[in-house]
Amino acid sequence: MVAVRAIILAAGQGKRMKSAKPKVLHDVLGMPILSRVVRQCQALAPEKLHVVVGHQAELVRDFVEKTFEDGSCLTHLQEPQLGTGHAVMQVAPALEGFNGHVIVTVGDAPVIQSATLKHLLLSHEQSGAAVTALTAIVEDPKNYGRIVRDEAGKVRAVVEDKDASQAEKAICEVNTGIYCLSWPAVKDGLQSLTCENKQKEYYLTDLVGWAYKSGAGAAAVALTDWREMAGINSRLELSEAARHLRDITVSRLALESGVTIVDPHSTWICPEVKIGQETTIMPGCILTGDIEIGADCLIGPYTVMKGRVRVGAGASVVSSYVNDSVIGDRARVGPFAHLREGNAVGSASKVGNFVELKKATLGDHTNVGHLSYIGDASLGSNVNIGAGTITANYDHVTKRKDRTIVGDGASTGSNSVLVAPVELCAEAVVGAGTVVTKDVPSGALAVGRARQEIIEGWAKRRKERMTVAPKA
Ligand code: UD1
Ligand code: CA
Repeated sequence: MVAVRAIILAAGQGKRMKSAKPKVLHDVLGMPILSRVVRQCQALAPEKLHVVVGHQAELVRDFVEKTFEDGSCLTHLQEPQLGTGHAVMQVAPALEGFNGHVIVTVGDAPVIQSATLKHLLLSHEQSGAAVTALTAIVEDPKNYGRIVRDEAGKVRAVVEDKDASQAEKAICEVNTGIYCLSWPAVKDGLQSLTCENKQKEYYLTDLVGWAYKSGAGAAAVALTDWREMAGINSRLELSEAARHLRDITVSRLALESGVTIVDPHSTWICPEVKIGQETTIMPGCILTGDIEIGADCLIGPYTVMKGRVRVGAGASVVSSYVNDSVIGDRARVGPFAHLREGNAVGSASKVGNFVELKKATLGDHTNVGHLSYIGDASLGSNVNIGAGTITANYDHVTKRKDRTIVGDGASTGSNSVLVAPVELCAEAVVGAGTVVTKDVPSGALAVGRARQEIIEGWAKRRKERMTVAPKA
């Protein structure tokens, strides 16, 4: 097998974003642009991945080092930034002694799919060319570089929009900025690049012209889905790219996974999300993160999931907000539940309306039906938490957080307060309105509230007093 390396160009300024933040670190559907590009390249299993940084280099380098801690991503400084060809030149010393294929991608095109990069690699191998450009046939070539072919239909050059003649501007096959290069075959070509053009930059695109002229061989392979090339230069293009990613993801889920997405336009699902067959996603859902939803679920309308979320088969999560939590098979969540980080809800359990969970585990068949806050708590199975039950887990004075433990089969009456640290043992019962500060033994009842008094005839007497002496 031929060795593979990948180069990602991320040194440019991205002026049109009008942002203090580096362009490639902007979020697109729950993940920074650069991470998306890196991940697609990683799927090719390159022996090394080189990221060229320049503008706001420190920030981008820090991000790369923190996000890809295994050291698989190396950064290379390009200073000053003299064009895409110049950017690749900065990696050349690190390619010394390397013999194989180099995938080069622009760091601002996050819709590209790894399957496409694999296809590019494969056709590069088959054609034997030194440079293969990934191209796209589009209706509106915008300001992308144009692919110029010779009489025989062979790729002759890439001409930048700014340097193009009227005839060239009419060409609808454009350069995606993604290439496969044979190394060291292109080394001479890279060294021969000049900046004799409108932008006074070293264009990587000129490598295509060099490969054609020198006989090293230039080839092109066209994208089947032009949306994959969507580059981000402004915030408007950022939202366009997110839309393309969403559309591609929705199609895949609907056509390959058998998921019903009722209204794709109001649904945002990032490509990483896995969903089982027969699950229905109702309108208004936003699912971004490391999310896996089982088969036969009902999600939404208006459900947000973030971080690492697992939802078992047959569960429903209606109009709720879920972060870093696990929801068991056939569990019912919502409407209007808020699962903050670190929860595990057992199978066939229920988390009802206006319930907030934080670092809470619920066993199987346990219900927290209405208006509760359950934080830093472990609830067993078959527990019933009455409406309005609150775990008082936080001491504002000492800043301490303590745990509440509720054993199997225990129950609380409405409006109980469980002051942590406290334990209700198995089958314990708490009377409505009780403030529990001491552990409740197994099977015992805890009641702590003023005893009710009955004053016979009180209402009638009060009414009579009111009639005798009406208010002034
Ligand atoms: C480039 C291509 C164009 C193609 C388009 C696709 C060139 C000359 N043109 O144009 O044919 O249609 O991409 O999106 O290559 N960068 C560096 N260092 C630099 C300049 C740029 O690392 O000195 C990086 C940028 O951060 C960016 C990428 O290279 O991620 C592309 O640069 P950009 O200036 O956006 O090139 P385009 O004009 O879009
Ligand atoms: Ca660009």
